[in-house]
Amino acid sequence: KMIYYVTPTYPRPEQVPELTRLAHTLMHVPQIHWIIADDQPLCSEQVLNILKRSRLPFTHLSSPKPYLYKGGNFPRGVANRRAAVSWLRDNVQDGVLYFGDDDNTVDLQLFDEIRNTKKVSMFPVGLIGGFGVSTPIVNNGKVIGFFDSWPGSRKFPVDMAGFAVNIEFLKPSANMPYIAGHEEDRFLVSLGLKMEDIEPLAENCSKILVWHTRTVKYKKPTLKVNIDKLDNKKYPNFV
Ligand code: UGA
Ligand code: MN
Repeated sequence: KMIYYVTPTYPRPEQVPELTRLAHTLMHVPQIHWIIADDQPLCSEQVLNILKRSRLPFTHLSSPKPYLYKGGNFPRGVANRRAAVSWLRDNVQDGVLYFGDDDNTVDLQLFDEIRNTKKVSMFPVGLIGGFGVSTPIVNNGKVIGFFDSWPGSRKFPVDMAGFAVNIEFLKPSANMPYIAGHEEDRFLVSLGLKMEDIEPLAENCSKILVWHTRTVKYKKPTLKVNIDKLDNKKYPNFV
């Protein structure tokens, strides 16, 4: 089965390095189609260049967040993930959907695991919240609950990187709300997912194959010296 790897992304100084690193992971994966969903009014040329140079089959979509959600604790990557889901519904009958953010770290083993997802598969995600991991709890090969530092009255308290979905299971009702912290849960609920349908992967959820890594934001340093008054002997390399 083909894996459709959906990456929401937005312009910032870290974008090109993040996507470069992700491209270099995905280039090792057979049968993968990379959907990059750009959070801006037009598909960016920098992003397109990375896609082309990866030589992977890809789809490049643009779907900016509504203006309302600029600033504050807004739901990130929703408009663009929604665009990717509707593109999949219109164009793909067979395959597996995975939401892979541009800054996460993925073990290549994850792709072998999710490729055979029948409905919805789940697995642990490292470096999440206070507990350092978010994972389904498995007993006798069945998911019986969740270990997550923020249950937040969610039916499925999982991270976006902690599940994969068979595209046949993507109902027309599939939707992701603009509610920070509830995107994953509401999306899974909108699929009509039942606990007994969940396929636990990664050796009954005992192995971490994906990490919620985050890159420190680049901050422009404030220049503390007045270059005009620099002493040439003290700072010869400046002149
Ligand atoms: C966490 C989860 O891992 C995300 O999947 C979830 O969307 C997010 O929280 C949320 O609920 O808001 P986190 O690391 O906190 O992610 O957020 P980011 O990595 O900044 O953003 C998640 C994804 O959305 C990234 O791929 C990012 O490039 C994209 N994004 C972020 C946008 O497309 N637009 C933005 O304005 C910000
Ligand atoms: Mn992130």
